[in-house]
Amino acid sequence: MSDARHLRQGENILRHIRFDAPDSCLILACAKGAPLSVLYWGAALPLSVDVAALECLSVRQGMHGVADVSLPLSLAMEPGLGHPMFHGFAAHREGKDWGSLFEVGKVVPRDQGAKIICRDERTRLGLEYDIDFDVSSGVLRIRSTLTNYGPTPLDVNDMMTACLPVPERMTDIIGFTGRWTQEFTQERVKRGAGSYLRENRSGRTSHFSYPGMLLATAHTNESAGEAYGFHQAFSGNHRIRVDSLTDGRVLTSMGALLLPGEMRLAPGEFYASPEIVAAYSGAGLSAISRKFHDHVRTKLLRPEMRAKPRPVHYNTWEAVYFDHDVAKLKELATRAADIGVERFVLDDGWFGGRRNDQVGLGDWTVSRDVYPDGLGPLVEHVTGLGMEFGLWFEPEMVNPDSDLCRAHPDWVLGLEGVEQIPFRSQLALDISRPEVADYLFNAIDAILRDHDTSYIKWDMNRDLSHPGGTSGTPRAFAQVQALYDLLDRVRSAHPNVEIEICSSGGARADMGVLAHSDRVWTSDSNDALDRQVIQRGASFFLPPEVLGCHVGPAKCHVTGRRLSMDMRAATALMGHMGLELNLLTERAADLDVLKYAIYLHKKHRALLHNGDQYRLDTAPQLLASGVVARDKFEAIYSVAYVASDARVLPGRFKFDGLDPERQYRLQLIWPTNRQAIKGPSAIETLNLTGEGAVFNGAALMHNGLQLPNAFPETCLLFYVAAI
Ligand code: GLA
Repeated sequence: MSDARHLRQGENILRHIRFDAPDSCLILACAKGAPLSVLYWGAALPLSVDVAALECLSVRQGMHGVADVSLPLSLAMEPGLGHPMFHGFAAHREGKDWGSLFEVGKVVPRDQGAKIICRDERTRLGLEYDIDFDVSSGVLRIRSTLTNYGPTPLDVNDMMTACLPVPERMTDIIGFTGRWTQEFTQERVKRGAGSYLRENRSGRTSHFSYPGMLLATAHTNESAGEAYGFHQAFSGNHRIRVDSLTDGRVLTSMGALLLPGEMRLAPGEFYASPEIVAAYSGAGLSAISRKFHDHVRTKLLRPEMRAKPRPVHYNTWEAVYFDHDVAKLKELATRAADIGVERFVLDDGWFGGRRNDQVGLGDWTVSRDVYPDGLGPLVEHVTGLGMEFGLWFEPEMVNPDSDLCRAHPDWVLGLEGVEQIPFRSQLALDISRPEVADYLFNAIDAILRDHDTSYIKWDMNRDLSHPGGTSGTPRAFAQVQALYDLLDRVRSAHPNVEIEICSSGGARADMGVLAHSDRVWTSDSNDALDRQVIQRGASFFLPPEVLGCHVGPAKCHVTGRRLSMDMRAATALMGHMGLELNLLTERAADLDVLKYAIYLHKKHRALLHNGDQYRLDTAPQLLASGVVARDKFEAIYSVAYVASDARVLPGRFKFDGLDPERQYRLQLIWPTNRQAIKGPSAIETLNLTGEGAVFNGAALMHNGLQLPNAFPETCLLFYVAAI
């Protein structure tokens, strides 16, 4: 609930605004004429707690060597506050009006949030905060909008969406980094004095600097301890900071990273910053993720698409690359349908002169060289087999060797006099130009209208290294807005078409783009061992059903590693399952295993795609997680043995998230042909591969099951059902 008890009717004096969720509470100090700040954000407080008491408890003193008074914090951390270490806001008019100091002018409480309007009369700027607090989950969302009320243009160099304090006991920062095929790599570091800073200038969400982080105590793990989670819902350049001030306070901040001259506001114009999504948990890191998953599911994804089971995919990329041949593709489709695939996605190579990655990007008409009769016969073959048809596009890009680039060389982003950096032999179009967006919309629209297509894989495969527009000013921020607009335009013209977002694998997998699309491609690595880590990292922010998880070939094309079908299939089965291997060359026995995995995925899909995910703490030789139905009637747990173990047996496995009072039947549902190593383990003794055994939820959760010894690179799946 939001509490406006301090609002004195008619006087518009609201000193505090308080939001309560079952497990967390946020109190903002918003007295008129003072800076807007966070008074309290953390564990739930009884309603009887007096806000004035919190203020008293928080009184700070001045000190020798620093200001004589304790300086206030604000959500903007603007220069007028006079802080010596960190500012979250930098703007000026020709070198003047740079020292803004915002004061709360008006507070408009809403059902689950508030609009708080701040102003600085000296620099003639308005700063409006839109704050939403979901009272059931405790998910906090903040957007800020800066308006230039002055008579001359304002240059915005830097503006964090919001700067949010966290308690000093949050000593650990968990960030996510990586590269192509190694996305979502967790990095837990100790907070030191000064700044932790991640900057992304790639023009897309990025592999290297994921726009999300958590702050936690030294003891916080997946299932216990305090943590704060943050995500910037934006698919472009960003800056993420944690500042440990010399006065002891700790501030986290996130915002778009603006390039020089990128954000010049004419009189009356405004800049709307990208949204921060944040949450507090007193019950470990996994609980933060469940809040984020709930947010993605209920606020971002389209209800009609959520209601539809997500079809199992077959994607052609690793089977054929650019070697498209209609007869072979039809044969692949037939095989795919045979083993239970429900959607066939034709990847790169179907259009223009695109016979390799050097040529044809931008020419979005069906290639007559490889499809002499158009795509129709393949689409009809696929739909005739009862599958949906999907198609790959990379709308924002051109190869210089394309008809489009030859016709419109000026549509390309760049800097005059500066050679573009080569990057997969392609250049980025300035899609913020209406004529470019129109061309792309019309091209995509024509293909979708002419073919029975229900899916687009929307790719983007280069950094925006020099994102200058025609006038020479940077267009990186505008490019992101233009992307969202183009996605929405395609969506509203084709509401039944789902859109997958891809960017050299998982370089555009954020909550900003998910408000305009339906799933993301998690990584170009289909190596199941790497995927265990990548999918786990992604799960900090995104629920399993939006993560494309494909079974790759026996020998991974990216790592050269060979993994069993058992391991590959179990790993893909836990997300949005798909296949990306040559079904014409895989071993028949492996295809049987795969067919059964697809059957199992479909059988448990409703649970996997709607349940609550629990990442579990285990020894490093294992990676484990579970998905528990919201009513706690059933659950699936995955235990991957990722490395050899110095111990004879791994530890006991605790089935987190169950109802301690209920009785559950425990079964091992994967792999189907498990052989005990040496003597019988609990799996055999309890007949878990057969009828299973019944246990009390508390026993499964707190005592746990002694895991068997198993070969590295294997994965066990347990199914638990209430009886
Ligand atoms: C990117 C994607 C791949 C594939 C290729 C096609 O690398 O991440 O999945 O679509 O482009 O060129």
